[in-house]
Amino acid sequence: MKSFVINGQRRLCGETDIQGSKNSVLPIMAATVLVNGESIIHNCPELSDVDAAVKILRLLGCTVKREGHTLIVNSENVNSYEIPDRLMREMRSSVMFLGAILGRMGKAVLSTPGGCEIGLRPIDIHISSLRLLGVSFADENGKLKFDIPDGLQGTRVTLPFPSVGATENVMLAACTAEGITVINNAAREPEISDLADFLNKCGAHISGAGESTVIIQGVKSLNSAEHRVISDRIVAASYLLCAAVTNGNICITDVVPSHIGSVLPVLREMGCTVETGINTVKLLSPEKLRRIRLIRTMPYPGFPTDIQAPVTAALSVADGTSVVIENIFESRYKHVGELLRFGAKIHIEGRMAVIEGVNTLNGATVNATDLRGGFAMLIAALAAKGGSVVLNTEHIDRGYEAPELVLSKLGADIKRTE
Ligand code: EPZ
Repeated sequence: MKSFVINGQRRLCGETDIQGSKNSVLPIMAATVLVNGESIIHNCPELSDVDAAVKILRLLGCTVKREGHTLIVNSENVNSYEIPDRLMREMRSSVMFLGAILGRMGKAVLSTPGGCEIGLRPIDIHISSLRLLGVSFADENGKLKFDIPDGLQGTRVTLPFPSVGATENVMLAACTAEGITVINNAAREPEISDLADFLNKCGAHISGAGESTVIIQGVKSLNSAEHRVISDRIVAASYLLCAAVTNGNICITDVVPSHIGSVLPVLREMGCTVETGINTVKLLSPEKLRRIRLIRTMPYPGFPTDIQAPVTAALSVADGTSVVIENIFESRYKHVGELLRFGAKIHIEGRMAVIEGVNTLNGATVNATDLRGGFAMLIAALAAKGGSVVLNTEHIDRGYEAPELVLSKLGADIKRTE
């Protein structure tokens, strides 16, 4: 079993750049299916979720080459419209290929994505929205079959919730639909804007991405393009929290400070000094972090749900009691049981976590329960006195590129073991 072995209470100091965004590169990789040509994607992080998406692209008939952090996808010969169950299970967010496959092939077959560690992850909003564009759907014993008997027709789509994935799927399906599609109550995450930037470089006509109303004017086809993926705002905030719990002093580069605009005030309220530049964020942490009265996770630009587990780990050693409310996913507290092994004092009431800060955490052997919950274990281990072992690191490898190298460079005592 793969694990990280960490000796805690090493001060993190120095500078690190931030990897490309997992949640941006994945929908952009799906978008390449619509392109009748070659897509060159720079700043692509080396992650197991990206590897899974490469497998899907190849299965659909694309050729994919990786040269360091550049991915070259040739989609001239897309010849399949089915994602097999094993790949859907390997990465449930493969559902984001749906809109692109429909736009390219006129039909799609997926298996039910199923839930994951943080919730049931239904796709009802994806399906109801695509139906408005003329998509027919049948669930045949877990095989989801999509068809467009009369082609994709632009229309007005109002999302009942600003779902990131559903916004992306509608954008992708609408790119080559007949006429204009208007998405109301669209997700506003930076990853939506990055996807639109890529698609417009390919010849799409998308406006309003990043706002609540996105307008897509259908075009006949999309052509070759080159694009650099934005940096990963969740990874950036995660490493700032690593410095915060170790009385650290770090500078992260190649980031967009406004993308973590809701996290920086929380770090300041915890007692950190935070300075932002055009593409940098510097953080100087106090000896002892202060508690936060209340954090509510919200859709962007609110506090990101993906930072809920990492910030809960950091607040475990703050001075005082903090409250976190998880409003996005229904069961995103699996990491709390593992934090208790470090000696954290956390009480869960439904969607609310009450975190009573303790003087110090003690090293422990814990399991990574999911991607962000797994990184929360690293934060707790960095803060803890003594040695810790974090097991099931495959969860962390889905979204963080070589965290042991990044953290070691900043002064942490961390090793990856098989
Ligand atoms: C994206 O997931 C991200 N994943 C998630 O990051 C992120 O937590 C989430 O957006 C919210 O920001 C990727 O981009 C690959 P949603 P997505 O649709 O699109 C419910 C990580 O750690 N919902 O905005 O699945 C859903 O159950 C991952 O990197 C429906 O009910 O998120 C959830 O409660 C985790 N029906 C809420 O909406 C639907 O059809 C938000 O989901 C779709 C969603």
